[in-house]
Amino acid sequence: MNAGARRLRVVYGDITRLEVDAIVNAANSTLLGGGGVDGTIHRAAGPELLAECRTLGGCSPGQSKLTRGYRLPARWVIHTVGPVWRGGGEREDEVLASSYRTALALAADKRLATVAFPAISCGVYGFPIPRACRIAVREIEAFLASSPHPARVDLVAFDEAVRREYAALLPGSV
Ligand code: APR
Repeated sequence: MNAGARRLRVVYGDITRLEVDAIVNAANSTLLGGGGVDGTIHRAAGPELLAECRTLGGCSPGQSKLTRGYRLPARWVIHTVGPVWRGGGEREDEVLASSYRTALALAADKRLATVAFPAISCGVYGFPIPRACRIAVREIEAFLASSPHPARVDLVAFDEAVRREYAALLPGSV
């Protein structure tokens, strides 16, 4: 199957520049911004994003909430809160899997065609990258097998460690 028809792809670089229907934000439970990809998304989207986030009342780990994308090329932002890695004994795997599933469910509800994910919890939240990337690919492939929407998911690798893991998990798609 050529890459064009592939429903799960790996892309490199800054998620805020992607012209997709929705980008996913690796947020914290306040939804009021932060560092990492959260900070970059808020800077690129402009102040209206924070204004809308203030109306959402936060978000629990593993859950996701939708806002508009404002000045971003993407029309929507799906904010999800991944788990903080605390050694693996506090259901971190399940919470990370839930972040992918609930974000995809919002995209499917909106009948979005294209969604881009950063590597949730793989930065500040310290989740082991190989383990997190396996969960991401497993959950997204399972969701896509059960739903026509979104038509395509882009996994965004911003750093080399994540790129290497996705390349190993999805040979031929990088
Ligand atoms: N585009 C795509 N991916 C990016 C970008 C970007 N512009 N900037 C960073 N990343 C990648 C990181 O390299 C990492 O692989 O996103 C992944 C997630 O890293 P973080 O942004 O640190 O997110 P996370 O580990 O989930 O921690 C969330 O960090 O920014 C705060 O408010 C946020 O408290 C929350 C915490």
